[in-house]
Amino acid sequence: MNTLVFWAIGILSAILLIYGACLVTHRLYFSPLAHFPGSKLVAATAWYETLVDITSNNFHEILLDMHRQYGPIIRCSPWEISISDTEYYTKLYVPAGIRHTNSAVQRFGFGLEDTIATTSDHDLHQLRRRPLEKYLSRQSITQAEAVIREKTRLLDGRLGGMRGTGSFVRLDQAYSAYLGDITVELTVGESSQMLEEADFAPEWHNIIRSILLVNPVIRNFPFLGRLLKLVPMGLMRRAYPRIAAFKMWDVLGRDKVDAITSELAEEVVPQKASFFHSLLRSDLPAFEKQAGRLSAEAVGVFGGGTINPSSALTFITFHVFNDAQIHRRLQESLTEVMACYPQRSPTWVDLEQVPYLAACVKEGLRMNCQFRRSARIAPHTELYYRDWAIPKNTSVAMAIYNMHYDPHVFPDPFTFRPERWLGDIDPRMHRSFVPWGKGSRDCPGKNLASAELYICIGTLFRPGGPYSLQVALKDCDETDFALLRESEFGVFPYGSRGLSVIFD
Ligand code: HEM
Repeated sequence: MNTLVFWAIGILSAILLIYGACLVTHRLYFSPLAHFPGSKLVAATAWYETLVDITSNNFHEILLDMHRQYGPIIRCSPWEISISDTEYYTKLYVPAGIRHTNSAVQRFGFGLEDTIATTSDHDLHQLRRRPLEKYLSRQSITQAEAVIREKTRLLDGRLGGMRGTGSFVRLDQAYSAYLGDITVELTVGESSQMLEEADFAPEWHNIIRSILLVNPVIRNFPFLGRLLKLVPMGLMRRAYPRIAAFKMWDVLGRDKVDAITSELAEEVVPQKASFFHSLLRSDLPAFEKQAGRLSAEAVGVFGGGTINPSSALTFITFHVFNDAQIHRRLQESLTEVMACYPQRSPTWVDLEQVPYLAACVKEGLRMNCQFRRSARIAPHTELYYRDWAIPKNTSVAMAIYNMHYDPHVFPDPFTFRPERWLGDIDPRMHRSFVPWGKGSRDCPGKNLASAELYICIGTLFRPGGPYSLQVALKDCDETDFALLRESEFGVFPYGSRGLSVIFD
């Protein structure tokens, strides 16, 4: 019996070994990508990237080194090409009318495969994306601006009330509550009232942070997410609170969509319009309105709507507080535009015209950007880069990070320096600055996020506002905001103490 098991294991190992050797030989010598330059290791196996991803988390740096060694076009996995050349960015990330673009990355496990961000097929992606794009277009953002202004006044009032009291507050948590309230109101027409809670609902902040921190593991092993969905919540909370937080988010999405669906079925006229109300009333095909898909979409939009803007706001606020000169200059620059506040609030467009405010926002978006490369596939056409023909149906990726941190375009790229955006600037900076991505899969929330950043920072840093020069950072420094780069977007370190300030 023992000999039999021994033989079975031996034969199985031999088969696996031969299979592995054939696979690697095919990838290295016979694949249509075999002639592209790059490291043999990454061409042979994607496990190397997985290993880096969940241990040292610096594959993006390794990729940059490979570009330095092998040139602007390299093979970065058995099935993917990476290009590092700003000029090519708008040729790869094209509008839907130019050519079909599938996406290559399954971003999440946890059953979020059916959302706009995780739909690979071009046509289905366009069908799903169009309503959100329309809902968040620059024209429609006027409606959103009213909500943003209302929530900003609330935040401003709460923080203003603390001036001179010596109390301290976690601003990163306050921002997550602020952005969560805006996103929930716009997407499901309901006020989540987190801004009104005494401590700004820290559990919401913890949920969104957990997602970013757990993302590298789930990205590499998406089946884990699906498996974990089956584990009872109580058990998961005890075993792994971070993942339990994600599950709570999932439940939230499902509850909200179920509530709107029954509201519409009972013909209750909702007080407010929202993205999901209009989506459910629209003529989208029935299969697109299935509860499971829409709740995943809600989870995705709550996430997109809170995580990135919250992280950008926290990052910018820290860097402004951390440098008295930047702080003073920002405040002075807002004197005129905020002169009539609170009787009249300036619009997003008014605030965009304030050069120093715009410089702070841009510098924040430059540094706090999408770090991971984003791959696209042209299913029907070959792509051409210089003398290279890339076979159709190949994943081709570029990384915003490589462009935003290019020291030739942005000298001293790891330093927050708004001044670099003022005066006569190097035109390459405009070409290299793509915080929202480009093309048919760029960020549909860019207008909303931009309006939030301008209105919130403009209001809170105005002369006489809550962020007067008497506000001081408490128990935090630069190390708490050094962005980790292994998630999709920058995330603050695991041990980050958050952004605490004291209102003297
Ligand atoms: C500072 C804030 C934000 C930044 C920097 C940002 C950045 C981005 C980027 C770079 C992409 C493209 C990803 C890729 O090509 O792989 C993206 C996609 C996306 N973003 Fe944002 N985003 C922000 C805020 C928002 C907001 C407020 C929402 C929603 C309300 C949102 C929803 C989405 C969605 C749904 C996608 C997927 C689009 C698609 O695949 O077609 N984002 N975002």
